[in-house]
Amino acid sequence: MAQSVKGYNRLSSVYAWLEHLAFANTLMRARLSLLPELKSAKEILILGEGDGRFLRQAVSYFAEARFVVLEQSPNMIALAKQRFSSAELERIQFIECDIQTGKEQLKPGFDAIITCFFLDMFNATGICNILETFSPYLKDAGYWYYVDFAETGKGVNRLYQQAYLRLMYWFFAWQTGLETQKLVNPHSLFEALGFRLQGQNDLHFHFLSSRLYQKVN
Ligand SMILES: C[S@@+](CC[C@H](N)C(=O)[O-])C[C@H]1O[C@@H](n2cnc3c(N)ncnc32)[C@H](O)[C@@H]1O
Repeated sequence: MAQSVKGYNRLSSVYAWLEHLAFANTLMRARLSLLPELKSAKEILILGEGDGRFLRQAVSYFAEARFVVLEQSPNMIALAKQRFSSAELERIQFIECDIQTGKEQLKPGFDAIITCFFLDMFNATGICNILETFSPYLKDAGYWYYVDFAETGKGVNRLYQQAYLRLMYWFFAWQTGLETQKLVNPHSLFEALGFRLQGQNDLHFHFLSSRLYQKVN
């Protein structure tokens, strides 16, 4: 089993607790911040959902939508599944896989792709590869809802952001073998691959950024 899978399996039961300790409810506020903008989405793909807390909210919010989740950690998936009724589970397909292999099981035609605190695990080449791989699965004018950390502060705020990011990258390298050690702002990569920013909301002194990109070609 890959070190990353082992690590996230181990962290799964304490993940929510660690998040609350570090950020209270601000990460969830960022995840939900622009979700209403996807109101007409009927087919939604989520990459690296984690323990299902965001999915719980999304499934309630989009009462008609169907969800496909690519997630490598079986423990995370098991935790997520516990949050849903059997009727709701009929609307969710969990695919336990690395995103690179799981894509083989997808059919194109998604209205939206969602990545929450997921692309921060990749360097620029990795993010580019993910955008290139999954963009064809979006419908024309489909959305990529991106929620992640941002390193945009100035002065003391920037020092705070850098210190926190250093601590987080150290923690995930230790626990999951994460090799990436630096946060990439993927904005220019989205633009280069034919996405346009349609909405943005920055929270927590601009340390968290929720962005809605639309595929324009
Ligand atoms: C940093 S956590 C973020 C979880 C959640 N999206 C959130 O908002 O907190 C990353 C999640 O992505 C999963 N993951 C990491 N790399 C993956 C990959 N290559 N393929 C599929 N899932 C992956 C991990 O198992 C974990 O659940």
